[in-house]
Amino acid sequence: MSEVPRPKQERWGTRVGLVLAVAGNAVGLGNFLRFPAQAAQNGGGAFLIPYLISFVLMGLPLLWVEWAIGRHGGQYGHHAAPGMFARMGRSRWLKYVGVFGLFTNLTVAAYYCYIESWTLAYVYHSLVGTFTQTDPKHFFDSYLGANEASLSAVPREALCWFLATLALNTWILSRGLVKGVELAAKIGMPLLLVFGAVLAINGLTLGPGDPGVIESPLAGLNFVWEPQTSGLMNPSTWLAAAGQVFFTLSVGMGSIHCYAAYLRERDDITLNATTAGSVNEFVEVILGSAILIPIATAYLGLNVVQAATAGGSGFGMAFTTLPTLFNNWGAFGPFAGAMWFGLLFFAGVTSSLAMGQPVVAFMQDELKVRRAPAALGFGGATLLLGLLCVILYPGGAFDEFDFWTGTFSLIIFAFLEVIIFGWIFGIDRGWAELQRGGDLKLPNFFKYVIKYVTPTFIGVVLLGALLKPSGSWGDAVGSLFTSGSWPFDPGSVIGKLLHTGATEGNFDNGEITHVGVENLSRIVLATVFVLIALVVRRAFKGRDLSTRLLAPEGDPKP
Ligand code: PHE
Repeated sequence: MSEVPRPKQERWGTRVGLVLAVAGNAVGLGNFLRFPAQAAQNGGGAFLIPYLISFVLMGLPLLWVEWAIGRHGGQYGHHAAPGMFARMGRSRWLKYVGVFGLFTNLTVAAYYCYIESWTLAYVYHSLVGTFTQTDPKHFFDSYLGANEASLSAVPREALCWFLATLALNTWILSRGLVKGVELAAKIGMPLLLVFGAVLAINGLTLGPGDPGVIESPLAGLNFVWEPQTSGLMNPSTWLAAAGQVFFTLSVGMGSIHCYAAYLRERDDITLNATTAGSVNEFVEVILGSAILIPIATAYLGLNVVQAATAGGSGFGMAFTTLPTLFNNWGAFGPFAGAMWFGLLFFAGVTSSLAMGQPVVAFMQDELKVRRAPAALGFGGATLLLGLLCVILYPGGAFDEFDFWTGTFSLIIFAFLEVIIFGWIFGIDRGWAELQRGGDLKLPNFFKYVIKYVTPTFIGVVLLGALLKPSGSWGDAVGSLFTSGSWPFDPGSVIGKLLHTGATEGNFDNGEITHVGVENLSRIVLATVFVLIALVVRRAFKGRDLSTRLLAPEGDPKP
């Protein structure tokens, strides 16, 4: 027995702190920007049923699985995915599955921290009254450098705020788990809830008597919440719903694993995981849909809101429409703006810390780097990758990152981990691991869900993402039989890889094109993945990670 990792472990300070930190991890920009946009784009209430079913059959089981893998790995001193996965069986390749758990966090952080920095900038601009003087739409474009003809730009102000945001994240991470991540969640989460409640109440009580109001804000709420069965038969709705469930719960990232690794062997996971997941759903479905859409509906009318969200993401609405509408609120307007962007900022920062912590922990555990330099390493790497998103934002680098790292790689990782958990680690052992010390007894039914239903479900979603056709699925199958070809949607994974529908090359007259930006982003991302895999290989070289040799702290296994 060559190594027995029993370093003095960092642990969460209090249970409240833990629950707030994991809720802060999950509650993020996804709840306030992505959810309303996804719901609206996918037919409002028609989105809700697939969303809730995905939550129960995929979201919750994955949360439990990730908590169990994390706490198990933590007992061996691993707080990042590669070591945890290495401990789940005897095969050497398992640790490479864990590479996803570093890769996704790092690369999502790169663009996520960029949006987070906009929210900080917008708190400032709301308070100083910028949006009462300048058209928010124009401001947004020039802030991001999207006004220039070129697809690359160095937007100076945005860059400064980005640097400030990264510095803040790095500083908090360097303070350690309890004084950094946990404290930030204890401050940020309550404020977020208060800001959210104030805005929701103000928005939902808008009525015909208020200046500028043309429709009841409740029409917006109805649109999102009134369940309709029409979405059930539409695979694209399922795909979008499943994707949203992943993103919002932070599953498939390696982030939940890391937070769970700071638990003791007999600390509860079933109740903690379920509580944190439920807080996230409350914030997403109740608060997340009670601000943006109802307020926009009150002033613009439901038709305009539906048309606006159907075409694009929630970003435009959040950063351009809302600040305009807050001007109707007179003296309260700037504060409403500051609360809205402040809420987004707190949601963002407690999530980006959750992306940083696994990377920092990996450097600490496996590379023996001290905490402060490890935090700096994360900040520096995020800056380098993020610069690509900042400079090539107008060319679409950002969307490219979001797709490959924020959507596709989550699904792959989740698929692999649930199979490893149910079939390699073994469902009986896994189920026992999950229940040990649990304050909530999970119905046995979920044991089978984890083993069979969740992997099948994710597999179907994955196939859907790979093969999504440009028209309806029925037409696509028809065309396969009649002409032997499959009409890939440009948004499907294969369509993207083939640049379906694009006619341009990488460069045009010496300027990089959209296709060029996409290719460059992909090369960078692939390189990052390979580099991390090489580091993982080195870190574990010559170490025997088989779980049979080592019994974790306090575990009387032979
Ligand atoms: N769940 C977060 C959100 O909704 C995003 C996130 C993903 C955070 C992965 C941490 C890790 O915005």
